[in-house]
Amino acid sequence: MQTSARQNTILLIGASRGLGLAMTAEYLKRGWRVIATGRATSTDKLRQLSGALEIETVDITLPEQVADLRARLADRQIDVLFVNAGVKNDDRETIADVSTEEFIRVMVTNSLSPMRVVEAFQDLVAPNGTIGVMSSGQGSVTNNVNGQYEVYRGSKAALNMFMRSFAARHADDPRTLLLMAPGWVRTDMGGPEARLSIEESIPNLLNTIDAYAGRSGLHYLDYLGRVVPW
Ligand SMILES: NC(=O)c1ccc[n+]([C@@H]2O[C@H](COP(=O)([O-])OP(=O)(O)OC[C@H]3O[C@@H](n4cnc5c(N)ncnc54)[C@H](OP(=O)(O)O)[C@@H]3O)[C@@H](O)[C@H]2O)c1
Repeated sequence: MQTSARQNTILLIGASRGLGLAMTAEYLKRGWRVIATGRATSTDKLRQLSGALEIETVDITLPEQVADLRARLADRQIDVLFVNAGVKNDDRETIADVSTEEFIRVMVTNSLSPMRVVEAFQDLVAPNGTIGVMSSGQGSVTNNVNGQYEVYRGSKAALNMFMRSFAARHADDPRTLLLMAPGWVRTDMGGPEARLSIEESIPNLLNTIDAYAGRSGLHYLDYLGRVVPW
């Protein structure tokens, strides 16, 4: 468990639906205070949850919105910062035929913007806290033997690399850094054919985040706590 006298607090970015919404519900169930964000038009499902929930809005690709949220939360201390927001492009699109515009959208949303959030909010995270980002098993270079999902894979591999650079720049930082792979889960993004239900992934993913509390350095893990090869 994260330990502190006050209620544990997570800032969860990208919580309006799918895995982020389920993480919010699960943290609330476990007695945490959750500051959960949607985009301005996507907070309806969050509003149906109850518990120690604060709902904020941010589009992570818009630096002025990230800066505004940072200013609103200036006097907060958080135990876990977790950036879940992400997008994918059409599965059939390879690097050969993706448009430059679509490539930029996926890379800016999945690679650059989560790191901007990490950079902007990391000083609010307690010295024994955790900074996590939702990666994917698809981000593993080692495990890419079949190709497919090329642009999305590239965006998560880039995200992993940026977190490694962040970790290297903060080598003496006692906080835990996590890149999480939730498994292939049935959400809008994962689709109906995905292997796992949200219930099979998310409680386990939270257990893994919890189990790594206080373990400094960067860890690339799946929802069951298994190390994912880079
Ligand atoms: N499902 C899977 O099988 C799977 C597997 C591996 C990794 N992941 C990763 O897990 C994360 C969540 O996936 P999911 O399956 O829950 O996807 P999802 O159902 O499509 O939900 C995506 C979430 O990201 C938010 N988001 C997207 N662009 C954003 C932006 N510019 N600013 C702020 N929020 C933004 C969405 O907010 P809006 O509602 O406002 O659009 C939504 O809350 C993603 O990072 C994804 O890459 C998923």
